[in-house]
Amino acid sequence: MKRVKTGIAGLDDILGGGIPQNQLLLITGTSGTGKTIMCSQFLWNGVKKFGEAGVYLSFEEPADAIRENMKEFGWDFGEMEKAGRLAFIKYDPFRIDEVFNILDSTIREIGATRVVVDSISALGLHVRDKSELRRMIYNLSILLRKLNCTSLIVSEIVHGTEPKLSRYGVEEFVADSVIVLYYERIESVFNRAIQVWKLRGSEHSERLHPYLIDGSKGIVVSSGEEAYVRRR
Ligand SMILES: Nc1ncnc2c1ncn2[C@@H]1O[C@H](COP(=O)(O)OP(=O)(O)OP(=O)(O)O)[C@@H](O)[C@H]1O
Ligand SMILES: [Mg+2]
Repeated sequence: MKRVKTGIAGLDDILGGGIPQNQLLLITGTSGTGKTIMCSQFLWNGVKKFGEAGVYLSFEEPADAIRENMKEFGWDFGEMEKAGRLAFIKYDPFRIDEVFNILDSTIREIGATRVVVDSISALGLHVRDKSELRRMIYNLSILLRKLNCTSLIVSEIVHGTEPKLSRYGVEEFVADSVIVLYYERIESVFNRAIQVWKLRGSEHSERLHPYLIDGSKGIVVSSGEEAYVRRR
């Protein structure tokens, strides 16, 4: 099986070498766990370390905010965009039907093989029921696979509701693979932990590993260590 390396320290190790090529990987977790940073780092490394162009479809944060925030880590996306190696897709809520066509043409235009959809939950606002959402994500996965892309889609774990891996509880079934990010309190300290929940067709770490968001390196996973968090 061919692997696409995230280039994120420790993450490729717990994935058994990287994301299986052409897969759709769901990143889920509560707010502020670093999902957007992880996705950005995947695209940044794609261009810088592996020569792969990327497309970022952001339904939540405006591209400008992502560009600004990621500069803190030394990742200048503007420069990559000018070079035609990276593209942000601006989401227009009135043209939801067209968003996948735009994604399709943007991927072809720059020859992207890495794609981020952050977050997939936005689609849920435009569909009648869960089965329609499931079909929509499934169609998206077919499109991305056809275009030979390895993709990250983001969903959220919402606290205070029934325990679910994702916002709508369907995302994890459509995705080939799932990574869960936790931010949990033990006494007065909050701990970050990451887990590979499933990885289709591959072995992976079955442990919970600590990770941190480093001001200069971005996400750093301690693949050799075990995390202790108390699930709520
Ligand atoms: N420059 C930085 N240095 C260190 N940590 C940072 C930096 N910028 C952000 N963070 C950490 O990352 C968190 C936000 O990460 P990110 O935006 O990726 O989360 P998210 O999971 O996408 O959240 P949401 O679900 O709200 O979209 C912040 O709460 C902060 O703890
Ligand atoms: Mg985010």
